[in-house]
Amino acid sequence: MTQSPPRTNLAFLGQDGWEQFAPDSLTLPWNEFIPIVPTHKQLAFLLLLCREAFYGGAAGPGKSVGLLAAALQYVHIPGYAAILFRQAYTDLSLPNALMPMAQEWLAPTRARWDEKAKTWHFPSGATLTFGYLDGPRDRFRYQSAEFQFVGFDELTQFREADYIYVGFSRTRRLLTSDIPIRTRSASNPGDIGHAWVKQRFITEGIRKGRVFIPATLDDNPYIDQEEYIKSLQHLDPTTRAQLLRGDWTARTEGGKFRREWFEIVDVSPSIANRVRYWDLAATEVSKRSRDPDFTVGFLMSEVGRKTFYIEDIRRMRATPATVEDLIVQTAKLDGKAVAIYMEQEPGASGVNTIAYYRSVLAGYTFYGVKTSGSKEVRANPVSSQAEAGNVKLLAGPWINEFLDEIEGFPSGAHDDQVDAMAGAFEQLTAEEDEEVVIVYDVSREVNLDLV
Ligand SMILES: Nc1ncnc2c1ncn2[C@@H]1O[C@H](COP(=O)(O)OP(=O)(O)OP(=O)(O)O)[C@@H](O)[C@H]1O
Ligand SMILES: [Mg+2]
Repeated sequence: MTQSPPRTNLAFLGQDGWEQFAPDSLTLPWNEFIPIVPTHKQLAFLLLLCREAFYGGAAGPGKSVGLLAAALQYVHIPGYAAILFRQAYTDLSLPNALMPMAQEWLAPTRARWDEKAKTWHFPSGATLTFGYLDGPRDRFRYQSAEFQFVGFDELTQFREADYIYVGFSRTRRLLTSDIPIRTRSASNPGDIGHAWVKQRFITEGIRKGRVFIPATLDDNPYIDQEEYIKSLQHLDPTTRAQLLRGDWTARTEGGKFRREWFEIVDVSPSIANRVRYWDLAATEVSKRSRDPDFTVGFLMSEVGRKTFYIEDIRRMRATPATVEDLIVQTAKLDGKAVAIYMEQEPGASGVNTIAYYRSVLAGYTFYGVKTSGSKEVRANPVSSQAEAGNVKLLAGPWINEFLDEIEGFPSGAHDDQVDAMAGAFEQLTAEEDEEVVIVYDVSREVNLDLV
């Protein structure tokens, strides 16, 4: 039974900036289980038939309500299955969160709740399940399930890998119907996933067929805006801008890089001055150190003292022997024209490591580099060149991880790529006559202590 939605004003469709949302059809799948009159933005979200869409913006415009309504749009059709995720179970069950909201909507209907499976069963046989993904292995719990709708609320709390795995591999079309396959999400800016969500939906967005519905508090006539704005006044300016205006560009103070500064190019320059800069990780992954930094080898080139290209990033966490294999293999691939620099850790083991690599890389131009000053200060010169548009990125599979890290710098979980970039840039721009490198005598006895 497809009921018409309650009457709502469609005049905004086709207005400035809304052309891309003009729907193919104004027949909106609707049923007795959705007890709301949608706001304009919610309606735009519910009319979308595309594979992937994101409702992102300020706090309070009705994103979670929109997601729940979207999940319920086809529950009158036999075989339909929808799932809604929050990052943790407690997030689903808090007051005003998705599960209590669904309870309020569905308890008075003919739908039945299965507490154990966290699933609503509808008279048609359709289902709506609630799930969470707070550990790296949680996604495998949903392995055998198949859904036509996968929704994520507060998407910036998720890892991109989980979003892609669950949002795309678990979906399957029903043979007997033409229900669209939909992955839908909603979020405020900020949190650990800010950078990848922004890259996916705002930077790449519609070019990759992903629709972004921006929303602000003004879009929600159901909320006491004045009260709400007052409640945000105690927040710092960045968080306030993120929550109030849904501002995806507002960053925590101290941020040195923006992903849009880096033009992505398909070919590297044929004639350039090239360096490969290695920053070795000090620790391996262990029970005590689950997320240590990576060993990074950064290949950067310079053309005509004014344009810089990031050509390749090798990044791994491994035993010293495997790291050594990578460094040697990379040197062979780069060729002898590329000078190799390696950051020298303080103390005797740093001296030994450099001496050791000098012998391993015999035949290549190899230098150890002692660094000084804070990581943030060292990142300044390359940051200002990047802001001026002078640093380009060669297209490669490592681009997103790199852009995520630099945008999160200095407050993100890792800074190894920023360090290696700053080091490579420093070497490329060092004056010829300036003594910036230390060459070690390899005839000394060396100790193979690499970490
Ligand atoms: N179409 C609607 N009809 C009635 N009430 C609505 C509607 N849309 C939103 N609301 C109400 O507005 C308030 C905010 O909605 P919701 O929780 O969906 O916003 P949100 O964008 O998810 O907010 P947050 O950023 O805090 O997660 C809720 O109290 C909700 O019940
Ligand atoms: Mg919400």
